[in-house]
Amino acid sequence: MSEVITVANQKGGVGKTTTAVNLSAALALAGKKALLIDIDPQSNATTGLGFRNNYEFNIYHVLIGRKKLSQIILKTDIKNLYFAPSNIGLVGIEKEFYDNNTKERELILKNAISEIKNDYDFIIIDSPPALGSITINALSAADSVIIPIQCEFYALEGLAQLLNTIKLIKKTINPPLEIKGFLPTMFTTQNNLSRQVVADLQQHFKNKLFLDKDGEALVVIPRNVKLAESPSFGKPIMLYDDKSPGSTAYQDLAYSILAG
Ligand SMILES: Nc1ncnc2c1ncn2[C@@H]1O[C@H](COP(=O)(O)OP(=O)(O)OP(=O)(O)O)[C@@H](O)[C@H]1O
Ligand SMILES: [Mg+2]
Repeated sequence: MSEVITVANQKGGVGKTTTAVNLSAALALAGKKALLIDIDPQSNATTGLGFRNNYEFNIYHVLIGRKKLSQIILKTDIKNLYFAPSNIGLVGIEKEFYDNNTKERELILKNAISEIKNDYDFIIIDSPPALGSITINALSAADSVIIPIQCEFYALEGLAQLLNTIKLIKKTINPPLEIKGFLPTMFTTQNNLSRQVVADLQQHFKNKLFLDKDGEALVVIPRNVKLAESPSFGKPIMLYDDKSPGSTAYQDLAYSILAG
């Protein structure tokens, strides 16, 4: 059975897509069979992996029940990495969901994943910057959630709302849902603010931060221009610049997860 991990934070631009793409690539390169599902209408994971964002059939068609998930999955340049594309058409989904009753509506993605749950070691879901039906579906389908936290002022603002949503989903539709960890992103060593954000996370969520595979150093994603450039080449960081600090950090995250 695969482990399903949703990358979520309703705050925009905090590194969700960068994390989802590069974590799934790192897991695949470490020999695990991984599926990345793009469930964001912006389709950034789709284009960032070098795919078109206009596939005739995409995650939208899965969510409206017209296609099975297995029918939209694509192969990638990385041997063990598979991918389910998104499309801007997904913006209309919130309205269409209203035809279903609440519980059914929140479990559409989970039900779609159940068809292929035995086929992968990891399924990683990239969610949009909102707490609407799409993100609720992504959290309801997950075993755990990774919350990227951008190391900037206001980093923790809005976090209470996300944590409440997770608590509510745990209480109602998905009791096993766990917080896998908070992931500091875009960390700048010279910046006091960056260090303050990590210190705050350590203070409040000490046992929910990722440690490297030796269990010693904290996994922190540095601000790294190579990470920002790689999507424009349609490649995960390991294929774009394997020696960059961003690549090393996402591989550390993958090893941390593999080490359990
Ligand atoms: N560690 C990093 N170093 C430098 N640039 C980064 C880093 N992480 C992400 N970026 C860049 O910051 C921007 C936002 O990142 P990303 O798209 O991953 O965030 P997001 O949370 O998915 O955004 P959205 O909420 O819009 O979906 C992108 O241009 C991305 O390339
Ligand atoms: Mg994104």
